[in-house]
Amino acid sequence: MDTPFIITLDGPAGVGKSTLAKRLADHFKIAYLDTGAMFRGTAWQLGEGSWDWDEDKLDEALKGLEFSLSGSGSNSILSLNNSPLTDEIRTETVGMWASNVAKIPAVREYQKIAQRSIGETTSLIAEGRDMGTVIFPQAPCKFFLDADLEERAQRRFMQLQEMGKPADMEELVEQIRARDDQDRNRKAAPLKPAEDSILVDTTNLDIDGVFEKLVFETEKKIN
Ligand code: DC
Repeated sequence: MDTPFIITLDGPAGVGKSTLAKRLADHFKIAYLDTGAMFRGTAWQLGEGSWDWDEDKLDEALKGLEFSLSGSGSNSILSLNNSPLTDEIRTETVGMWASNVAKIPAVREYQKIAQRSIGETTSLIAEGRDMGTVIFPQAPCKFFLDADLEERAQRRFMQLQEMGKPADMEELVEQIRARDDQDRNRKAAPLKPAEDSILVDTTNLDIDGVFEKLVFETEKKIN
């Protein structure tokens, strides 16, 4: 079997990673791995306050979680214990829970094993915070997206509205700021660009422009 081809896409909340990752996955006909959804699913399943559990209780609970990925492109389906993850995990509250559990080294270790095992058999566009730095450092194609906080909050606002989830803009700015601070400043696998990643500031770019750039850069690596 050919070695799977991995594209990594990292960056802070609301930068447009999911939209771009799905489009890239469709374009290159590979699967899409949303690792944020894995942390959200973990936090959702374990519940509020699980980030304060003692090591044994947490280890036991983590052993009961099994993630799998099926399908391809934007139709890739991420399941937890054989049930596809749903929009229930998409609120900003669950995002913060996810960021809270994501600080814990045991949780990250568990996720690393699950994510690498998916990448061993499947060509992927892998989206998250530490895809290029920690999980797939050997990936031939790495991107790091960034954008101003206000712009990211606005994008997340639109996304939540489309899902029928009401949101307050000012509250969203504060929630995203707090989550990013926590993700950038944690000890374990903090959010940062890999040294060999291509940095794209998307603040003043539309999604089509960013998509074209990512396709162009990826094709350079393939050919
Ligand atoms: O991408 P997202 O907003 O769905 O991610 C939710 C949280 O999960 C994010 O604030 C931090 C954590 N996360 C992480 O620590 N590492 C990843 N690779 C992906 C997400």
